[in-house]
Amino acid sequence: MKIGFIGAGKVGTSLGIFFKNNGLSLSGYFSRSEASSQNAANLTESCLFSDISALIKASNLVLITTGDDQISSVVNQIAQLSCLTENHTLIHTSGALSTDLFDPIKAIGCGLCSLHPIMSFSDIINAAENLSSTVFTLEGNKNGLADVEKILEITANPYFIINKEHKVLYHAAACILSNYLVTLMNSGFGLLKATGIAADQITKAFMPLITATLGNIENSGTVNALTGPLVRGDENTITAHVQAIKIQSPEFLPLYQTMGLATIDMIKDKRIDTKKYDQLTKILS
Ligand SMILES: NC(=O)c1ccc[n+]([C@@H]2O[C@H](COP(=O)([O-])OP(=O)(O)OC[C@H]3O[C@@H](n4cnc5c(N)ncnc54)[C@H](OP(=O)(O)O)[C@@H]3O)[C@@H](O)[C@H]2O)c1
Repeated sequence: MKIGFIGAGKVGTSLGIFFKNNGLSLSGYFSRSEASSQNAANLTESCLFSDISALIKASNLVLITTGDDQISSVVNQIAQLSCLTENHTLIHTSGALSTDLFDPIKAIGCGLCSLHPIMSFSDIINAAENLSSTVFTLEGNKNGLADVEKILEITANPYFIINKEHKVLYHAAACILSNYLVTLMNSGFGLLKATGIAADQITKAFMPLITATLGNIENSGTVNALTGPLVRGDENTITAHVQAIKIQSPEFLPLYQTMGLATIDMIKDKRIDTKKYDQLTKILS
């Protein structure tokens, strides 16, 4: 089974390195720029292709790993080339988009799959390492799923299958868990900067707290992991937070209030009673 990639960016290149390290055979890469194709081909000891049809002819499985917005135009290009056969499987790695994107080539009868790694790929080499502990989400037709399942059995990655109607919601959740976690931390760091703590000390000082919190969530779940003034019902402390933010860093007040209200919704009737919930709601509103 030969695996080829259209799009030699972070996901395409790190997946290629990961597949190669697991003994899978790669045909190579076609990308928008020759430099990216060359870099990925070098890193994976595979070939650089200068056109899509040569890559497809040399591959059984073709992964489109361009950005989401370019997948459709690549699919339309493939539809016009007439080189894809029923023996191929065509895959994309978008989290939000489904295999409906492959409608222009559906009639060929090839395998179709969307293969989403639940991982953040901010650089190629680290991402290739992280892939060994990555879970994948799949959605596709029978042949497409069967081919991708074979690959994930070889690489020993867990996976689950999702209905295509749920992909957008699934991806919105992944954005909250990964991207908005970054935003939340950036807001906390921003508030700390306003206290005069040196920027270079903030990450170092607060990472142990953040890491321990993530560990608590993993071990006990979100509701039980929560510590701090809201779950203790310390109304005076919450009132003081709101006052201090209002005066010293008002730009953070809406986020503090929204997150506070979401937090008490999470623990209502589980760790605080209705009376405490109503009092905290008043303070946070
Ligand atoms: N990044 C993540 O954390 C992550 C996680 C899970 C899934 N995904 C999904 O994985 C896919 C790729 O994301 P990415 O982060 O790897 O993007 P990326 O780093 O921007 O890479 C996309 C690559 O596609 C190439 N490209 C663009 N248009 C092309 C075209 N028409 N023909 C051929 N190549 C083209 C670009 O090539 P050049 O470099 O040659 O210009 C670029 O290197 C997306 O569907 C994304 O949703 C991403």
